[in-house]
Amino acid sequence: MNLVKKVLLTVLVLAVVAGTVFAGGGSQGGKSAGKGLIGVVMPTRSEERWIKDGNAVKEGLEKLGYTVDLQFSDDDIPTQTRQIDDLITKGVKVLVIASIDGSALSNQLANAKAAKIPVIAYDRLLMRSPNVDYYVSFDNYKVGLQMGDILIKGLKLEQATSAKPVIIELFAGSPDDNNSVGFYQGAMDNLKPYFDKGVLKVPSGQIDRAVVGTLRWDAAEAQKRMENLLSANYTGSLVLDGILSPYDPISLSTLEACKAVGYGSTPGKPLPIVGGQDCVVASCKSIWAGEQYATVLKDTRSLGAATVTLVDDIMQGKTISGLDTKSYNNGSKVVPSLLLDSVIVTKENLISAVIDTGYHTRAELGL
Ligand code: BGC
Repeated sequence: MNLVKKVLLTVLVLAVVAGTVFAGGGSQGGKSAGKGLIGVVMPTRSEERWIKDGNAVKEGLEKLGYTVDLQFSDDDIPTQTRQIDDLITKGVKVLVIASIDGSALSNQLANAKAAKIPVIAYDRLLMRSPNVDYYVSFDNYKVGLQMGDILIKGLKLEQATSAKPVIIELFAGSPDDNNSVGFYQGAMDNLKPYFDKGVLKVPSGQIDRAVVGTLRWDAAEAQKRMENLLSANYTGSLVLDGILSPYDPISLSTLEACKAVGYGSTPGKPLPIVGGQDCVVASCKSIWAGEQYATVLKDTRSLGAATVTLVDDIMQGKTISGLDTKSYNNGSKVVPSLLLDSVIVTKENLISAVIDTGYHTRAELGL
């Protein structure tokens, strides 16, 4: 941003702050009736989980008497920066942000700080900025360990030997999303002993997170990469046994690529064992049908509820307890974090973990 723009923005932010102060710390043009206006920004509306997340936070805050301005950023960074700028201008009392690129919002976060607006990084850590107050998420490294557990169990790695190694290919999430680091690290740490013993092999040799990453978690891009991996490395009798997948739509699209070359319909070529993440409806159906092997359920209702409580505590000036103050360094500071637990879902526990808990209904899954 050039100097003139910076000065104009600062003047604008100061005017907004002054406006709120003179209005008695209350509303902005009638928009923040009740306990105050809270800004919530989610990365996209095109993925099931973020709609659920956004709605859970909005509904929870509204029940407590807050007014919520909920924005979805269409996975477009300029849209997200503009939305945050607008929310600051509107005088929100707290900002809840699930970023697209965790490192792309430094100016917005500095503006929020200047306007004394506390910032909560929602699910994805906001990187390289001192102006992040809290992080609410799942234990991302543990989610990664669970992704590894899924392959260890599904591929029966305990029983496998180097005489007949198990063959897998690896996919990671978006390189600009810090969660991808935890997921991949956890999964690979868990699988390491099997690589070391030579019972697990990646024929493509593509192992580096930068190489196996999927920008914006784009399932179509992952499908293309899977198609290329299959045509380049699996031409003879070599059969792919498993896929490390960080996200349900990637699990489903890579399975599609495998089906297109005969997996699941040719003797000796069963569908590979594939995990995933987010417990999306299509994957639950696939798990029930015996195709995708498993997923990791990160209950967006719990994340939403934890965020609502945090916002309310901040607004009431309460001391926040139970925070992890060690694990999440964003490159600029350690961000105090609230980390929730996730659950592996396979066909065995799908009913108890997903239906009985009300995460999805039987009707949604066609059961
Ligand atoms: C979230 C995942 C999600 C992915 C793609 C990650 O930051 O933690 O739950 O699958 O983004 O939206």
